[in-house]
Amino acid sequence: MNIKTRLEEVVSRATCLFTGDDINNALDRMAAEMNQVFKFKNPVMLSIVLGGMVPMDNLLPRLTFPLTVDYIHASRYGDKTSGSNDIKISVPPSKSLKGRDVVIMDDILDEGITLAAVKEYCRQQGAGDIYSAVLLNKRKKRASNGLLHADFVGFDIDDLFVIGYGLDYNGYLRNLNGIYVVAKEDMDLHL
Ligand code: IMP
Ligand code: MG
Repeated sequence: MNIKTRLEEVVSRATCLFTGDDINNALDRMAAEMNQVFKFKNPVMLSIVLGGMVPMDNLLPRLTFPLTVDYIHASRYGDKTSGSNDIKISVPPSKSLKGRDVVIMDDILDEGITLAAVKEYCRQQGAGDIYSAVLLNKRKKRASNGLLHADFVGFDIDDLFVIGYGLDYNGYLRNLNGIYVVAKEDMDLHL
């Protein structure tokens, strides 16, 4: 079966959790909160690519305080199911974080390992106040070394595998304009 047909099947069996309009409303709310907190600050908005890219790019035009934008490529080493807790920073931010307040943005807070590691990285680089923002927060037990809470959250969700708006299905479907729960039969991420 070709990839287009396969992806269409995955999407047709998936359940829509949040539409593009729902997400726009959540981003409006997150931006309003940030516009208060950072009114007199000048943070670096640090996107964790690839997942943080879509939420960040849509959040930015809603923000009204002085800010710069950077990104960091951080990913979990190897296979999540094996319980690997190591994070690889394959691309560091392009500008120094020294003395800068930082808002780290990712798509989702799951076990919390990625955000905890990026937060620690920023701290080691001499950043000032470090905040975290996620579009989705999974209500679940975090890893022992995971970040417990993000400072800015779009939606709280159950512990489900979701795709869309930056979240990928085996590398695909980050471009879906909404958040979808993948059907059980498609959970092996086989394409
Ligand atoms: P954590 O380190 O367990 O918090 O994992 C966070 C990362 O895992 C996110 O940046 C996502 O890339 C990925 N992830 C976690 N849950 C999901 C999901 O439901 N769908 C897609 N990717 C996910
Ligand atoms: Mg990610």
